[in-house]
Amino acid sequence: MKRESWNSKLGFILAAIGSAVGLGNIWRFPYTAAENGGGAFLLPYFFAIITAGIPILILEYTIGKTYRAGAPAAWARIKQKFEWLGWFQVMIAFIITVYYTAIIVWVISYIGFAANQAWGTDPTGFFLDYLGLTASGMDLGGIQANLIVPFIIVWVVTAIIMYRGISKGIEAACKIALPVLLVLTAILVIRGITLPGALDGLNYMFNPNWSRIFDSSVWVAAYGQVFFSLSIAFAIMIAYSSYLPKDTDVVNSAFITATANHGFELFAGIGVFSILGYMAYTQGVPIEDVAAGGVGLAFMVFPAAISALPAMNGFIGVCFFGALLFAGFTSLISIIQAVIAGISDKYEMPHKKATTLVLVPAFIISILFITGAGLTILDIVDAFVNSIGIVGSGVLEVLLIGWFFDTEFLRKEANQFSNFSIGKWWTYMLKIVTVLVLGFMVISNTITYMTEGYGGYSGTDILVYGWGTVLIMIVGTVILTAMKGKEGYADLTKHKEDK
Ligand code: PHE
Repeated sequence: MKRESWNSKLGFILAAIGSAVGLGNIWRFPYTAAENGGGAFLLPYFFAIITAGIPILILEYTIGKTYRAGAPAAWARIKQKFEWLGWFQVMIAFIITVYYTAIIVWVISYIGFAANQAWGTDPTGFFLDYLGLTASGMDLGGIQANLIVPFIIVWVVTAIIMYRGISKGIEAACKIALPVLLVLTAILVIRGITLPGALDGLNYMFNPNWSRIFDSSVWVAAYGQVFFSLSIAFAIMIAYSSYLPKDTDVVNSAFITATANHGFELFAGIGVFSILGYMAYTQGVPIEDVAAGGVGLAFMVFPAAISALPAMNGFIGVCFFGALLFAGFTSLISIIQAVIAGISDKYEMPHKKATTLVLVPAFIISILFITGAGLTILDIVDAFVNSIGIVGSGVLEVLLIGWFFDTEFLRKEANQFSNFSIGKWWTYMLKIVTVLVLGFMVISNTITYMTEGYGGYSGTDILVYGWGTVLIMIVGTVILTAMKGKEGYADLTKHKEDK
């Protein structure tokens, strides 16, 4: 079967940047930085980019390009015994897919709300009302009628892009979405830094608190941010690079992706925090009191900031939610493709059939997130998938490659068509530094969740949605690994000709 491919290498780079630049860059980074020592956070952050982010990105690009398959078949082609790790990564991708769509649903509604600041004087109350949020994850409270239309829109657009495939779907979508995203973000940054109080916001975000630098939780936060932000260890980058020609310079591509992603992250952070600085200034409150990360930032704090602006409130509001929409969409399609590739490569199934097989169950399960318990479930699942799933997958990846495989062989593959050759440092980073840091992270995160739970949710909610998610990831991995694929799917020599 002829494998799909990117139209051009630039198309691949754009798609990879589209995946990396997501909500994590806009709503996760600025707050994580502020919370973890501000300017001092940048040191562990850059350290994490160099020791883990870029080395692992190079590794995943090399795996995809060399083994020409989505994560499960690629891992199986490295060593049959490694296939399970690919399915574990696909399970993570599938779970993120089902809740990420819900966030995009809210974003679409909010583009409409932003036009006339429909949230009035109480954005938090408005948001909770809009969601029909129930008191516990166990009380679903039914599907929220006002979410149905945006929900259908998200799935229809997603399905159109996914059915069109790699070059006509994903690549084409990213070529449109990324420039738009850049323009919208630039508008936010320019508006932000020209407001009074902007400097207070930037100070809050960047002011270095060096005393935090010896705090291990700051380092853990930096590695977590870099992983999530670069979309590594959850099957995406392996799948994307599997559609590349063999002679691609993967080292260069990884540096470009990382630079664009982290550059955008800093840029967006400046926009977000200068606008928050302005709001704190006009209300005469300390910035600490208004700052927040994640869902709270986008749907509670930022609407208030938009209302507080001196002029063009609707326009800036639409730009902000528009940026979230485009950033989110290009990440969503990458994560769905990671799942599709997993299935189509193991069973040598045509793209369209694999797409249906992934989209239908994902659509059905995602309905859970437009019920009244949606936000609660989303928050818990997201925390567990990230802190245990992705970090766990990352450490397993570097362990298997670093200690149970010929890392030098992969280094040669990476260097073969690269202008700038990576040296032995790469191997040591993977083998030692990342194994230790990520291993420490996954253990400490697991202990924290076991002893303290998460986010103040009830024990039942944490058990069902948090540990339940971990269980589903493991059971899914076992079943999908055990299923018999198409003859020869794990044999690279049979797939040398795949374009
Ligand atoms: N890198 C993405 C981000 O920053 C992470 C992600 C990718 C999330 C794909 C969901 C889907 O948001």
